[in-house]
Amino acid sequence: MKQFPPSNLLNSLPKQFFASLVKKVDQYLEQGYDVINLGQGNPDQPTPGHIVAKLQEAAANPVNHKYSPFQGHKYLKQAAAEFYLREYGVTIDPKKEVAILFGGKAGLVEIPQCLLNPGDTILVPDPGYPDYWSGVALAQAEMAIMPLREKNHFLPDYQEMSPEILSKAKLMFLNYPNNPTGATATTEFFEDTVKLASKNDICVVHDFAYGAIGFDGKKPISFLQVEGAKDVGIEIYTLSKSYNMAGWRVGFAVGNESVISAIELLQDHLYVSLFGAVQEAAAEALTASQECVKELNQLYERRRNVLIDGLRSLGWDVTAPKGSFFAWLKVPNGLTSEEFANILLEQVHIMVAPGIGFGQYGEGFVRVGLLSSEERLREAVRRISCLEIFEK
Ligand SMILES: Cc1ncc(COP(=O)(O)O)c(C=O)c1O
Repeated sequence: MKQFPPSNLLNSLPKQFFASLVKKVDQYLEQGYDVINLGQGNPDQPTPGHIVAKLQEAAANPVNHKYSPFQGHKYLKQAAAEFYLREYGVTIDPKKEVAILFGGKAGLVEIPQCLLNPGDTILVPDPGYPDYWSGVALAQAEMAIMPLREKNHFLPDYQEMSPEILSKAKLMFLNYPNNPTGATATTEFFEDTVKLASKNDICVVHDFAYGAIGFDGKKPISFLQVEGAKDVGIEIYTLSKSYNMAGWRVGFAVGNESVISAIELLQDHLYVSLFGAVQEAAAEALTASQECVKELNQLYERRRNVLIDGLRSLGWDVTAPKGSFFAWLKVPNGLTSEEFANILLEQVHIMVAPGIGFGQYGEGFVRVGLLSSEERLREAVRRISCLEIFEK
């Protein structure tokens, strides 16, 4: 059979760091080991019943068996606007300031292609969500990293960025609550971001994937709550985490009109729009009671406490995440993140994500997901206590 080589563009895509780790875990599972998988980011709870019921009802409606309108249904854009007003006090024009997405990932990967020309520069957080790199590669753009350091609470330090890079940069990705560090943003930081972006003509893309998950009574803030944010950027919201709808593929971008229209233009060429029944169910999720979101947040907070308190009781100096469903733990004993992840997998059959997979500034940390039950997290702590490095 002929072998058709992939294009140069496909060859330029970043390698999937975590694929080899998943393969290794699968080998352990095949051998019958009880692996505790804390390495991945897939919500473990089901979608709330009222959202599923809406999908079932809408799936039976023949209107939804036809093509959806290009750019999606007006009622979903209206629901997104209502959601932003109710949750964040932010006014959004549903006609011009909302684009419906096939999940946040699709939007994040599309945006560089919407705004950049080959060779343009994008500012990307390091450590960060690896899909940002995919968007950079597909746009044939250049990536300039913004280190996220513990001493700066994992916020980029704009003072250390060179004026040359800032003047070249056209786009900046930010993500708070942050994957992988669990850090949250402050209003002051977002205000500084608006100033910087405005001065340097940078479009800010704030990835608010974990917007619903904030601990210790603090609701994560939206970038659009800060004055002037809409002038310089957009926010990407997804229903994947807030409503356990990761498999449904639905999200939206809100904010700057010119960016929204660029996304819609690209999407007009790539897709029609999401299945109408998914759009109806998404509108239901955004506008119905948010009790399920509150309960989910409490569930993650309980799990966080079990994990962090348990690890601290072993003498491991760990920081509690303020949001997201990840804990970002400093690797003990001067091991690299991969060495430590291998020890956990090989000796106590726990999978975690080595920090280096999120960028060079992720070295020295591992990411642990709060996507297993409290009982499994307790079991993970018990197994870790058996490691030689923690033995008292
Ligand atoms: C930081 C971040 N952004 C975006 C996404 C994309 O989520 P989705 O495509 O399911 O909306 C994820 C998913 O893991 C994520 O961790």
